[in-house]
Amino acid sequence: MTRSPSTAVALSLFVGLVAGSILDPDFDPAAYPQKVANCESEGHKLDIHYVDINPDGHRNLVLVHGWPGLWSTWANQISYLSKDPQYHIIVPDLRGFGSSTHPGSASFHEMADDLVCVLYDAGETSAILIGHDWGSQVSYEALRSFPDVFQGASGTIPYIPSVGDFVPIEHIAKQLDHLTYQIYFERETNAAASELAADVRRSLRSVYQDVAHPPPKAFLTSSTDFLKAYDGVPLDQRIPFMNQKEEDYLVQAYERSGFLNTLQFYTHPFRFGSHEYASKEGRKIIDEPTALIYPDADPVVEDWAAAMELLHTRSFMTNLTLFKVHAAHWPQLENPVAFNEALRQWLDTFPPIEYEEDEHDEHEHEHEGSDDEDQLVAPIADEPLLEPLLHEDL
Ligand SMILES: *[C@@H]1O[C@H](CO)[C@@H](O)[C@H](O)[C@H]1NC(C)=O
Repeated sequence: MTRSPSTAVALSLFVGLVAGSILDPDFDPAAYPQKVANCESEGHKLDIHYVDINPDGHRNLVLVHGWPGLWSTWANQISYLSKDPQYHIIVPDLRGFGSSTHPGSASFHEMADDLVCVLYDAGETSAILIGHDWGSQVSYEALRSFPDVFQGASGTIPYIPSVGDFVPIEHIAKQLDHLTYQIYFERETNAAASELAADVRRSLRSVYQDVAHPPPKAFLTSSTDFLKAYDGVPLDQRIPFMNQKEEDYLVQAYERSGFLNTLQFYTHPFRFGSHEYASKEGRKIIDEPTALIYPDADPVVEDWAAAMELLHTRSFMTNLTLFKVHAAHWPQLENPVAFNEALRQWLDTFPPIEYEEDEHDEHEHEHEGSDDEDQLVAPIADEPLLEPLLHEDL
């Protein structure tokens, strides 16, 4: 965290050229203290654990992981964005993940409540949301529900608007074959949780793969098991875009918490409840700034741009910016240089934050006399680090 920006940029350039490499080889999730927000949503109390970085920053960002994620899957964005003191970075473990508790009920709107709760607990009242995987939909739902709190949201999967009748996963899987595993997660949630827990490291490695290590063809296409497609595959290599500490941290978190609560996204009550709630509310169209930073080689959905057309995302997000990043399912981990550059480009389009002058003075005062002052406040390199980055403005 004390590395000077110029070293960081040089390192980023270098590792950006190597597939499956690590932006910050020293990132140690266990070294980050966690705060606890006592939250309540729909009459249920719960504790959300989160990491709070650069609390003096004025541009608040909430980073929202997906499945099977954890706050630490934002390691590369934390390393990059935390070098710029304008960013106050808030990274929760969603309900049921890591040390965050689970009240026995969940939906996208309840998780959106959790994000507001965490933000307030961190002493802030507004933020931009950055989501990955299901964390994208949590972020979009939070933006849809609380446009007075959140200024924008980015995700890696397209927005699923709650319009028309509820569509069961069986129907969706007919068009998108590699979503068939979600039928298993929905129908046999307990069995799936047990299967995944039998060898946590192996289960996580099966999902955390990169472009260079594609899964077996049959992976994600079974409605009766998750890991059979990997039979005979040793999966004895570490997750390609994590250092050992990161992988161990992730494995230990899932060994402690189990998978059952984390499979909430796939259950019928979650899906149906989320759809019903949002479709009964008047507001359907999100006019606030949104971005889709999507991977081009995701084993789950090969062509996210086509999926987006299927979902009519464009009709429900009127200010959507698209970025395509070469990666499998984890663009923020696998291709952090391109992902961070896209994120930075999009964040730079927001109007500057206005804040109290004396607060600013105090902030400056803190750094007075520090030899590192220039380095601490130096902006992250302005030039694009990786070309070409496809950037389509709609
Ligand atoms: C779209 O959002 C960006 C921020 O990402 C903002 O700068 C721009 O003014 C918005 N455009 C419109 C038409 O609202």
